[in-house]
Amino acid sequence: MIDLRILVLGTGGTIAGAAGSATGGTYRAGGLALAAMLEQLAALGLDAQLVPQEIARIGSQDIGWPQWQALHAACAAAMDDPAITGIIITHGTDTAEETAFLLDLTLPTTKPVVLVGAMRPADAVGADGMRNFANAVKVASDRQATGRGVLLVMGDAVLAARDARKAATSAIDAFRGFPRGPIARVTPARIDWFAPPHRQEEPAHYAFPDSLPRVAILAAGAGMDEQPVEALLGIGCKGMVLAGMGQGNAPACVLGALARAAAAGVPVVRSTRVDEGIVDRNVEVDDDALGLVAARALGPAKARVLLMVLLANGITDASRLQAAFDGG
Ligand code: SIN
Repeated sequence: MIDLRILVLGTGGTIAGAAGSATGGTYRAGGLALAAMLEQLAALGLDAQLVPQEIARIGSQDIGWPQWQALHAACAAAMDDPAITGIIITHGTDTAEETAFLLDLTLPTTKPVVLVGAMRPADAVGADGMRNFANAVKVASDRQATGRGVLLVMGDAVLAARDARKAATSAIDAFRGFPRGPIARVTPARIDWFAPPHRQEEPAHYAFPDSLPRVAILAAGAGMDEQPVEALLGIGCKGMVLAGMGQGNAPACVLGALARAAAAGVPVVRSTRVDEGIVDRNVEVDDDALGLVAARALGPAKARVLLMVLLANGITDASRLQAAFDGG
């Protein structure tokens, strides 16, 4: 039997949030230390040995480059450490999809990496954090979790990083997967995986960069003009993601300004403000003529993460960018 030793990287979020009241009307994300959370978890009698490392104690709205660097370095070291069998990251749910996807793009797939969060503070009645955490330990302990990229465990569902997105502000069942739904379900007795691992022994898709370029998300709205595009160029954006209408659309004057940005060397990816769906090339918008990239299944937040990683890796050409958005 393998000795299970799981590195737990704490960043804060509601899973580590303390409300000080049973109904949790207001609370502070990250108020609870990782050690205190692990103490509660120890009482559940799980098999794995947990090795805590606190990266931050913040709400995930404040997660950014310094925490991403620290998380990536800790995960990369754990991947190389034969004593560590899996990695869990406790994280706020607001930006969990961004951190999960960034790590998914920049880590090898040799050990399970599982993000977990909660929708209710730890001391609120009906808190979901401990259950989610216990499920994350089960998933990170499962050999079948390897070779699937970074995973997100919320409730009893396991989502792949590329698919996961937060779809509700406060409901317990806040996450959805698109284009795939959950890739596994955790039951009290076992984990049911719905397909075999598809990324066995893969190296990282992209190098973790030395820095990330400024990439902005531009939200489309009826009646808008092109001035926000000019403003983003004015502050030195190196790339833009359009959270467009419907299939990634925008008023003609905005598309014109985005095409001029692309022609001037600032790549533009068209995503959608709609909850779900694919943005394909050249359907309503002539990407070939305008020099734009279609985000396919990625929503604006994850499209921004991918564009930042691609630009930081020197990939700027529209056809290579499109290939990366088409992939996987
Ligand atoms: C956060 O993202 O840190 C706050 C919200 C949450 O964790 O659910």
